Amino acid sequence: MPEPTKISETVSINIDGQSYELPVVTGTYEEKGIDITKLRSQTKYVTLDTGYKNTGATKSSITYIDGENGVLLHRGYPIEQLAEHAEFLEICYLLFIGELPNKEQLDNFKAEIKAHMGLPENVKHILNALPDETHPMGMLSTVLSAMTGFFPDSLDSWTDEKVRWASIYRLLANMPVLAAYIYRRQKKLDYIDPDPSLSYVGNFLNMTFGNQDEKVAEALDTLLILHADHEQNCSASTARFVGSSHVNLFAAIAAANNALWGPLHGGANQKVLEMLQGIQDDGGDVAKYINKAKDKADPFRLMGFGHRVYKNYDPRAKVIKKYVQVVLDQLNIDDPMVEIAKGLENAALEDEYFSSRKLFPNVDFYSGIIYRALGIPVNMFTVMFALGRLPGWMAQWKEMREGKEPIGRPRQIYTGYTKRDYIDIESR
Ligand code: ACO
Repeated sequence: MPEPTKISETVSINIDGQSYELPVVTGTYEEKGIDITKLRSQTKYVTLDTGYKNTGATKSSITYIDGENGVLLHRGYPIEQLAEHAEFLEICYLLFIGELPNKEQLDNFKAEIKAHMGLPENVKHILNALPDETHPMGMLSTVLSAMTGFFPDSLDSWTDEKVRWASIYRLLANMPVLAAYIYRRQKKLDYIDPDPSLSYVGNFLNMTFGNQDEKVAEALDTLLILHADHEQNCSASTARFVGSSHVNLFAAIAAANNALWGPLHGGANQKVLEMLQGIQDDGGDVAKYINKAKDKADPFRLMGFGHRVYKNYDPRAKVIKKYVQVVLDQLNIDDPMVEIAKGLENAALEDEYFSSRKLFPNVDFYSGIIYRALGIPVNMFTVMFALGRLPGWMAQWKEMREGKEPIGRPRQIYTGYTKRDYIDIESR
């Protein structure tokens, strides 16, 4: 295990003529953070950082990102190595426990997941009761929120370790079941129940399409690995923040799932495909859309480009790009979107607007093309993202819980009216 965070130095700030020493915490890679936990009690000042661009919300040992150099490590292991050699459930174990499992540990882990697989029939009834127009992410959130009803012991997942692990296994086992059910609900097809004898991804493919292809399952497994965790992103922070109220795991995960839905986060993969389709329908003029993306008067943004943390090529996008061709070849698909995507990428990479702002393709840029090749509807792409990101949310929630972090409750700088008296409605 690496050494715990060091408190090696202090910085001083001067407020109203008085000097205060603030400790500096140093991470494994010498990242520095000014510890302001006592700032308000000592000075009455708070810090202001909308979007938390400069705020470390926690100390974490799960995932390390060096955005400047395009590095992503889970528990120290580079994502490229994990994507090439490991399987998704191994990564789940690694994220939860901190070490790679040996054969026996992985077998036991898989056995637990299989033992917790399967959802009550009423889950299907809930899905059937939702309007046909319900977005798949809305369906997923609905059932995730309803899960405590089916597994009432999960209400104790904060306090009871056995229940906590049962809830983790249950979510991991049943997220693919839910995703497949949602697919079939949308298509008005009969539901296919899980088959625990199949692999994690093979089972998902079988429940979704009624069959599974080994090469495709392999590619999809890699895609899940690439999405498994990404430190303090919007949805993982939500899992920690909502979880900090000591709510049950299912509720925290439902909240994280809703955070993922937005187009600036996991919803981007849907938007990428819609964008590519729009460009194709408009004659495939890539330059026109590059110019639109650069025009500040135009709300159009190049979806799948840019990232809050990566100011270099997203290492996950590099791996995904490789798999696009593997999947298309395996399925014998020639997709014109691939050429449009490559054209956009090349044009953007050569353009000063994008290079000066360090905007590169992110994980969503190519993932949608793979999902589309698999036959997954565009509005289900974010559900696929959720399937991959689930272990990250749970690992972050678990770490927050073990760290005994206080309830998340930011301060504000109030900019409204000063106190004023109520005016009777007749006099307004
Ligand atoms: N297209 C065109 N311009 C962009 C793009 C883009 N995709 N992304 C950023 N920019 C520009 C901004 O307009 C801004 O320009 P300015 O400095 O001239 O004002 C500059 O680059 C910095 O962008 P911000 O929005 O300030 O960067 P921020 O870190 O807040 O946002 C985000 C990151 C949300 C990912 C942004 O790049 C974006 O909207 N990308 C498209 C959506 C997307 O792909 N989201 C998925 C993210 S990855 C994930 O969640 C899995």
